Amino acid sequence: MLAATEGARCLARPRAAPRVPRVDRRVPAVARAPRSSDALRLRSRAVATTSRRNVVVAASAESRDESKRRYVNFTGFPFPLVPFLSRRTVVNEVVEGKVWTLEQEQGIGFDLGVSTNVRCTIVKMRDGRLWVHDPIAPTGECLEAIEAIGGDVAYVVLATTQYEHKIFAGPFARKFPDAEVWIAPGQFSFPLQLPPQFFGIFPTGTIADGDMPWETEIDTKLLRLPSLFWGNYTYCEAGFYHKDSRSVLVTDAAVYVDDAPPEVIPRSSLVDLGAPDGFTISLLRALDFRGGRTLPGADVTREDPDGCAKVGWKRMALFSLFIAPDAKNILKPDASFQGLAGKFVVSPIVYVIVFQHYRKEVLTWVNSIGRDWGGADRVIGAHFPVCERDAMKRPGFGGMFGAATTNPFDRVRGGGGEGSRGGGSPVKRFTRAFAWAATAADAPAEYVDVDDLASLELVARFARFVRAVPRA
Ligand SMILES: [Fe+2]
Repeated sequence: MLAATEGARCLARPRAAPRVPRVDRRVPAVARAPRSSDALRLRSRAVATTSRRNVVVAASAESRDESKRRYVNFTGFPFPLVPFLSRRTVVNEVVEGKVWTLEQEQGIGFDLGVSTNVRCTIVKMRDGRLWVHDPIAPTGECLEAIEAIGGDVAYVVLATTQYEHKIFAGPFARKFPDAEVWIAPGQFSFPLQLPPQFFGIFPTGTIADGDMPWETEIDTKLLRLPSLFWGNYTYCEAGFYHKDSRSVLVTDAAVYVDDAPPEVIPRSSLVDLGAPDGFTISLLRALDFRGGRTLPGADVTREDPDGCAKVGWKRMALFSLFIAPDAKNILKPDASFQGLAGKFVVSPIVYVIVFQHYRKEVLTWVNSIGRDWGGADRVIGAHFPVCERDAMKRPGFGGMFGAATTNPFDRVRGGGGEGSRGGGSPVKRFTRAFAWAATAADAPAEYVDVDDLASLELVARFARFVRAVPRA
């Protein structure tokens, strides 16, 4: 059974009185050493900046104790989520003293390369308490990082109905029993509709556009689309704007694709995926997937691990977005990857199965974000990098290839000029990913080879045939 949760009812939303932090931890969290030097070392590296305001400190959580990464998770239908047993957490201080991201690896399938990072974002509110967006697996390492940040979690916010995020909401919330738990409306489970309490989630209430307990500091905009799959699936996502840090938070609506891999992805996985004799490429050729047995591969050998890792990331990004891209683009990923890199992109599976049917609703939500939050300094999604204004810094990215915190694609495209397809403010970049929504038939321009959509289109045709999604 899909480990998903249900919470379609609008629950009572009692306004909690402001709470006094149990412990005053209002010091720059990552800048000071955590309590236990052998448990968690927060390695900070300052990204080159020109002013204090722009300082971004990235920190990686390094635990010597593998047991603190242990987290058993066997779930996911039709594809199991991985890792099954152990999850490393990478911590980045995105805005000094205000916003942190905690990332873990997350993939689907059976070690075929469909993997990327999943991100939890933590905002420190004005009273020092923490607002947690899209919680991740509460490993010992993850919890130690939260303790170092401040530890007093006031709100756990599940901003989506997508199961790769909600499976962690219950376990995470149980670690912070005093926190309020708010969930996106439209939660579902399959094949039986079961209440969120069945999955260990005891929500304080459901997220709405207004009247949220955090609204003096964080604005909320809800995208709720009509149900699909005979009422068994609903796409809902809440976008947020944290005023003090000028940060927009979204979950899955669009991701920012970078040329560098997430720090949390193991280098060995990238090297193996990029190598001509790696497991996935060998399987592709053995099965002759879409005629791939005799197609040319990337110009790289196992003797060049850096080259393999770069090719591996391009393949991994394509797998993560298209699930089963065309064989020629798996083998030589440059062209398809270039179509995505340096831009926000609506994930093809989200577009094909859901968004293309509800253009008006999606456009209304995106336009509202562009209108009201256009001055934001960054857009933080739940996957792939954070898109920053100015130098387009990517906390948590590029470590494998040195200090590649600036995307070379930005320079190629004019470094942020409004006329450049890849440029503009972070919110402008985000909204541009939805240009197709104002048209009748165009697929996102970032999908440069429609052959990459063939597998998803097959699924979509079947879904239309059985009337699980609209036919028009
Ligand atoms: Fe997601």
